[in-house]
Amino acid sequence: MWDKLKMHHEAVKSRRFETLVDADRAQGFAAQAGDMRLDYSKTNIDAEGRALLIDLLDQSGVAAKRDAMFGGEAINETEGRAVLHTALRNLDGGPVMVDGQDVMPGVLDTLARMESFAEDVRAGVFTGQGGKITDVINIGIGGSDLGPAMGVLALRPYHDGPRCHFVSNVDPADIADTLRACDPATTLVIVASKTFTTIETMTNARTAKAWLGEAVADPAAQFAALSTAEDKTSDFGIPATRVFGFEDWVGGRYSMWGPIGLSMMIAIGADGFRAFLRGGQDMDRHFQAADWADNMPAMLALVGIWHNQVCGHATRAVLPYDNNLSRLPAYLQQLEMESNGKGVSMDGAELAVNSGPVVWGEPGTNGQHAFYQLIHQGTRVIPCEFLVAARGHEDDLHHQHQLLVANCLAQSEALMKGRDLDEARSKVAGKFEGDELERQAHHRVFKGNRPSTTLAYPTLDPFTLGQIIALYEHRVFVEGVVLGLNSYDQWGVELGKELATALQPIVEGADAAGKDGSTAGLVSFLHSHGL
Ligand code: F6P
Repeated sequence: MWDKLKMHHEAVKSRRFETLVDADRAQGFAAQAGDMRLDYSKTNIDAEGRALLIDLLDQSGVAAKRDAMFGGEAINETEGRAVLHTALRNLDGGPVMVDGQDVMPGVLDTLARMESFAEDVRAGVFTGQGGKITDVINIGIGGSDLGPAMGVLALRPYHDGPRCHFVSNVDPADIADTLRACDPATTLVIVASKTFTTIETMTNARTAKAWLGEAVADPAAQFAALSTAEDKTSDFGIPATRVFGFEDWVGGRYSMWGPIGLSMMIAIGADGFRAFLRGGQDMDRHFQAADWADNMPAMLALVGIWHNQVCGHATRAVLPYDNNLSRLPAYLQQLEMESNGKGVSMDGAELAVNSGPVVWGEPGTNGQHAFYQLIHQGTRVIPCEFLVAARGHEDDLHHQHQLLVANCLAQSEALMKGRDLDEARSKVAGKFEGDELERQAHHRVFKGNRPSTTLAYPTLDPFTLGQIIALYEHRVFVEGVVLGLNSYDQWGVELGKELATALQPIVEGADAAGKDGSTAGLVSFLHSHGL
């Protein structure tokens, strides 16, 4: 199947795909989910290419694997676990069975406890030792940070609860700066860690506890914990009433729908959080029901596979023209790269094709004045994914939003059409002549024929954010199944953690004998400068 796709790519790669893009294609090469639209017509995928890509889905068994995932089977085969973040947003979808047990009563019970606690914090029923909670600090890293941090920022227009801060880095600057901005007597500290062993999180949690201990009589009274390891949360001193647990079938980077989303729930309220869950559930239903060519997560995955594994473009830029989504690229870096950055297939054999792409990005229009130069004229093609809302939240500044939208659409058009040498010459004619005109014109050529997709939606509200995040989760799932790897483990993060633990005594002064020369030399340099 890969061979057929590669042959097809060889046959069409020199064509200018803008010649394909008429009004019919704009309809036919787009997917609609609810009131959200994914346009993938500005790519070189034609009807034959799409059919081959869909064959790839069918031959990889994506439909059966999808049903196995929603059905609670242990599709995370290396860890022997189900993958059921979808159960966290299954508000009215009936039972979900794992090992013969319906997990939904537990999920809904935890959701109700979270809602009651979040509303108590917002209303001032749960207080700090100095009065109503003014600040919430979420201490977590990776999936225990990026989801709620991205979500709180994305839903800033709906934020009417206490201020939320996110501390993730073990760099003391992170927690020190945050604590300085908060009053310990009115701050709630949430320790978010699936395992409750992550060194960065536990170190920061102890620092926060000491900070609270200097100011209030009972520091533990201002802590809550979000974790699967309830024994460890009680060892830390957090009472069970403020521990919100979840099961091992929720992966860290898929966890913002459950307890890990508590800070977001406190920020926007329980109703807003439910709307977010409903958006995710809506995308789940679309993913389960829509034909592949109209299936938004499936097509987003196939466009990605076409660009990365077939065309060989190693990176993908995510470019939200929605400033409140400024942390989305960072969130997607973990979601996509920790999930599909694997070198072996499920059975342990080397992957036959490249693993998932490097994902990066920044909001537009900022990126236009920074790295778009390379996207337009650099020698490597970077497929771009634009996101844009029809409306912002600043009604009195709608004309400014229109300018934002014009910029977004102009970029995908510019990437597709480019500017040829004749047009470049006419741009500089009159300013230069002869050889100089020729030289100057070459600098103004845009080769174009550069692909992009655009995800358009009415406005970034909680429901829409839920749709967007679930869309990307399922995209990662489809891509993982087609590549034949396990998207739900993360062994690649382990080696660095082990070596950091082994290096700690050396950094603190123990003999570096046995370390490689480079590492020993760096330790010695840092010691000589005050480490
Ligand atoms: O080191 C990677 C990782 O395990 C991520 O997968 C996870 O999201 C993060 O660390 C944090 O883990 P925890 O929630 O257990 O603290």
